[in-house]
Amino acid sequence: MNKNTIIATKDLSKTFSNESVQQHVLKNLNMEIYQGDFTVIMGNSGSGKSTLLYALSGMDRPSLGTVTYYVRENGKGTGLRQLDKAIKKSGGKAEAEGIEISGFSNDSLALFRRMYSGFVFQQNYLNDSMSALDNVMISGLLKNKDRRALAEKAKKLLARVEIGEKDYRKFPTQLSGGQQQRVAVVRGVINEPRVLFADEPTGALNSQNTTNVLDILTELNQEGQSIVMVTHTVKAAERGNRVIYLADGVIADEIDLGPYLGDYKDDANPDREKAAERHKRLKDFLQNQGW
Ligand SMILES: Nc1ncnc2c1ncn2[C@@H]1O[C@H](COP(=O)(O)OP(=O)(O)OP(=O)(O)O)[C@@H](O)[C@H]1O
Ligand SMILES: [Mg+2]
Repeated sequence: MNKNTIIATKDLSKTFSNESVQQHVLKNLNMEIYQGDFTVIMGNSGSGKSTLLYALSGMDRPSLGTVTYYVRENGKGTGLRQLDKAIKKSGGKAEAEGIEISGFSNDSLALFRRMYSGFVFQQNYLNDSMSALDNVMISGLLKNKDRRALAEKAKKLLARVEIGEKDYRKFPTQLSGGQQQRVAVVRGVINEPRVLFADEPTGALNSQNTTNVLDILTELNQEGQSIVMVTHTVKAAERGNRVIYLADGVIADEIDLGPYLGDYKDDANPDREKAAERHKRLKDFLQNQGW
């Protein structure tokens, strides 16, 4: 199958300068993210995973190089005048060509993110002064002008992650950690982002909640949601179909795992044997990376 590129980087570099010392965290990365993929980024602590995720998602700008999104339909603007202006200014490319985001101002970048990207972090960063439902809705308002329709959509999505009316009226602090993270995932996808970015989304969850959140991500991906996720665990990584290993700011290697085949430990899984093979391929790959 021919895959469509949704993000491409060219010579992406990120350098942090602390006092007199320069730290080259990302070094001339050339990579592509493909539409429909569940891409996983792994690597040692400090290897630059979060930095890469922030650069890819437009949370931060690279020091050098470009990040280009291929997200627009032929000849169409983004629907936001300010963003269309920023796109013209950043290179005046033809409408159907990519949007190069590294030259955007902070405001344009923020608009771009709200139009095209979704985020889930290790900490859920929900706003504690409003209900779970309002947390989701406030993220949806830029794209969804019809408040009633938006509320319906938010409630439907929340129901899918088993947050019913009793719970979505609550404030985040009145919900369990697992519930909070499920709300955060819904908030991340309320705008139907072209890419959902997740930085260790299960890093603060217990085993059962980890499985729940991973199941939701898998389900979203199976419905077509492109996902880029950073993780430290094999359990989370095996949800991806492509795992990229980052070492010292460069891509050391990557593996194509094919689609997730379910839990390899589950006796009821008809694909159990194949899932176990797949799991082993991932573990061998990671071991070869010195993981
Ligand atoms: N804003 C910043 N200012 C200075 N240095 C930074 C900044 N952000 C990250 N770094 C440095 O860049 C390196 C990579 O950090 P990054 O957060 O990308 O690593 P990571 O792979 O996500 O690690 P972890 O697995 O621990 O989350 C680290 O050495 C870190 O100290
Ligand atoms: Mg990190």
